[in-house]
Amino acid sequence: MQCCQPTDQQVALFDRDGAVTLDTPLTRRHLKDAEELMDQLLPAVQSTSDAKPHYRSGQRFLTEPAFVRIIEHPFFEHAAKKLLHSHAVVVASANITKTPPQPNTPFKILTEHTDQVLRLSDLNSIPRKMQIHLYIWLADVDDQCAPLMYRPGSHRQLAQHMTDHPKTDPLPWLNSNFVNVSKDCPTPVITGTGPDQWPNLVYADPVPCVARAGQMTAVNLATIHSASTNARLTARKRLNIGFRPKGVMVGEMQKRVEARDTYWSQLGKVMSPDRQHLTRNDVKPVI
Ligand SMILES: [Fe+2]
Repeated sequence: MQCCQPTDQQVALFDRDGAVTLDTPLTRRHLKDAEELMDQLLPAVQSTSDAKPHYRSGQRFLTEPAFVRIIEHPFFEHAAKKLLHSHAVVVASANITKTPPQPNTPFKILTEHTDQVLRLSDLNSIPRKMQIHLYIWLADVDDQCAPLMYRPGSHRQLAQHMTDHPKTDPLPWLNSNFVNVSKDCPTPVITGTGPDQWPNLVYADPVPCVARAGQMTAVNLATIHSASTNARLTARKRLNIGFRPKGVMVGEMQKRVEARDTYWSQLGKVMSPDRQHLTRNDVKPVI
């Protein structure tokens, strides 16, 4: 599929900033079916003074037809291939998240973090050695409706520092809970980091990812990012598909690998026969 694919300029923007919002060919029917199913699975919960101020709900390991039709849509595979500079990709995860309105709650940025650690060589390799996430918006998101907040370019600053200052002390993910990671090659790895682990650099101010229903935001979660509160009257609704290049080793917790293997076997059974290659990685974990 060539139509609506990321342009070279959009790919360059994604490389530079760590996020880019794009149009998709999803139809009203795709969106309506997915939104209705999300509302069934994640019913509204009245926000009360006892509720967490950043309450949201979600579901992982999606196998419902209304979601699978989007997950397996060729557009997303081709967009992921282009953004990852890869001839083939696999689905790494798929989940939905709903952030209900929180009336009388001021807009606020929540805990900043990253979910992936990379070096410059990971960011620049062909294919890219990393995971990306395609956030597909089922409802409009403006700058007050719990937008994802991110600091443009921070993934490159962190990767540069990681490259320039290789740690001499053991990295926390070099332990038996992780697979596909070795002392000689400590990245890429899927693990969380927070402000106390980041170098004292000048980062860009956080900016919101705003989009219309039916658009998607491609995100590199090695970029500093955070959730935010929903100060609007409507819920934020997101379907998230994680992709990685087929055959690329990404360090992660053993239990994540096992959960994904189980998910792949379930997803493969409900996908169209000609789309099942998205659930086969052709790489054996290195323990
Ligand atoms: Fe995150």
